[in-house]
Amino acid sequence: MIERDRVPELNTPAFISPDRSWEALAIGQTLRLGVLASGSGSNFEAIARAIDRGQLNAEIRVLIYNNPQAKAADRAAKWGIPSVLLDHREFKRREELDREIVATLKEYGAKWTIMAGWMRIVTPVLIDAFPDRILNIHPSLLPSFPGIRAIEQALNAGVKVAGCTVHRVSLEVDCGPILAQAVVPVLEDDTPETLHARIQIQEHEIFPRAIALAALQSQNP
Ligand code: GRF
Repeated sequence: MIERDRVPELNTPAFISPDRSWEALAIGQTLRLGVLASGSGSNFEAIARAIDRGQLNAEIRVLIYNNPQAKAADRAAKWGIPSVLLDHREFKRREELDREIVATLKEYGAKWTIMAGWMRIVTPVLIDAFPDRILNIHPSLLPSFPGIRAIEQALNAGVKVAGCTVHRVSLEVDCGPILAQAVVPVLEDDTPETLHARIQIQEHEIFPRAIALAALQSQNP
């Protein structure tokens, strides 16, 4: 059995995004983010924390969540960030939900859409409203293991390294251009839960950086 605390490199991610991603602060323009989350919201909070620490020049205008039980809403309240529940079960078609999301994001003045554990398939209604300005985080080294249960897929395949990816969102699920990745070694005794916990530590590192990087690449952030 590997004792992970005694092998520091096992906990050291390999960043594939350039370090200059934090230079987004130098842009001087505050990014206006709208975050979509369905669950615990730890990535939402990691972004809020990076902003609070002055690492990311941005503000979260609104959190939209689709599940009344989402812990993300509690985190938003803690940070004093407005949150709006748009329960997908109240909409007959995906497009109707996306239309309401777009209206809410615009109402709160968001310019970027950040999918932080958003468990709904998006439609052209959302993508066309924020061209190249929708980012998603996925718990695998894309293009491997897109879709649901990415970590179980990785463990079943017997991969020796796993990780996470931030990418721009396109119509195909988990497929848009990659902005940042972090690599996480798979340990012999990993379960989906233990591996996910270590991947999440790296998600919280790369997501704010990837937002900064996307802004740097944009003509008009
Ligand atoms: C993350 O692992 C993310 O990669 C996936 O959903 C999870 C959301 O976690 N898309 P949290 O709600 O941010 O804690």
